[in-house]
Amino acid sequence: MRHLCCPALLRSPVVVLNLFLVACGTSPLPSNPVTDAPDEPDPVNPLPALRTDQVIVAHRGASGHAPEHTLMAYDLALEMGAEYIEQDVLPTADGVLVCIHDDTLDRTARGPEENCTGRVGDKTLEQLRTCDFGSWFNEAYPDRARDAYVGLPIPTLEEVFQRYGNGPDVRYYIEIKPNTRLGGSVEQTLLDLLHEYDLHAGAVEHRQVLVQSFIPTSLLTMRALDPDIPLIQLYAVGATATAALASNYAFGIGPSSSEVSPALVELAHSLGMAIHPYTINGEDDLAAMAAMCVDGLFTNFPDRYRAVLSQTDYGCPAPIR
Ligand code: G3P
Ligand code: CA
Repeated sequence: MRHLCCPALLRSPVVVLNLFLVACGTSPLPSNPVTDAPDEPDPVNPLPALRTDQVIVAHRGASGHAPEHTLMAYDLALEMGAEYIEQDVLPTADGVLVCIHDDTLDRTARGPEENCTGRVGDKTLEQLRTCDFGSWFNEAYPDRARDAYVGLPIPTLEEVFQRYGNGPDVRYYIEIKPNTRLGGSVEQTLLDLLHEYDLHAGAVEHRQVLVQSFIPTSLLTMRALDPDIPLIQLYAVGATATAALASNYAFGIGPSSSEVSPALVELAHSLGMAIHPYTINGEDDLAAMAAMCVDGLFTNFPDRYRAVLSQTDYGCPAPIR
């Protein structure tokens, strides 16, 4: 094969590792969507190069295609060229951080009622292990249903770190959800995991991990524990009024898409902050947001956003990342 004898490609550690993995019969890793974007199609990772460089955040994984917050949704997101995979985390009754969006199990879990309905924080990890977190997707989206989704487990954050590691081709965008468990020590638990899985240095040095929350006190708790972890202040409303305040502790802002305007993008950038709106899924909306020169955005369809960014050079400055 031509790429086997190309010295430039062999200088890429991702390509070399993928050649090794393919030779061993193992799935290749996705290439870094920006820094490793090839000039011509790469037979191992045939992702189109980006004409506009923005940060693709796979919201709950590639959750438009696969059940949210399953390893399958995260795998797919990385295959589609997402730069970050998002985890919403909540603590179980026994203090384990699990990846799930809702405070309750009822929408996305199926299984024994005593284990798979009600509040996540009232269940132990052992109870959650009995639940199926994929079948709901097949019920809700029959046009995208797959047998492989039936029975998918809930991942713990630790399992996510174990699977994807701390290499150059994965970044984590972790949201601390409102919760009353662990006496407010979710931040410490998260920090401990970052150290345990050698992600702390990557988070601090090149934002391999971003920690996001709607709750300023949660971000301030994290900052008090470790002032170097990059933080994102989320907003349902009110981004324009309080972005300047957030610039005292946060690396960036994550406003609802309805809040975003060229003026808000300009305000964020004037404060030296990244702006990553959520959650944008339609092609026209993705293009409109990209044209406003946001630094990146959350989408359930990282493939669509990547296509938008690959098709058009919007003339934006390099994103803050
Ligand atoms: O974290 C960005 C976005 O995901 C916030 O909304 O409700 O989907 O967590 P939500
Ligand atoms: Ca979220």
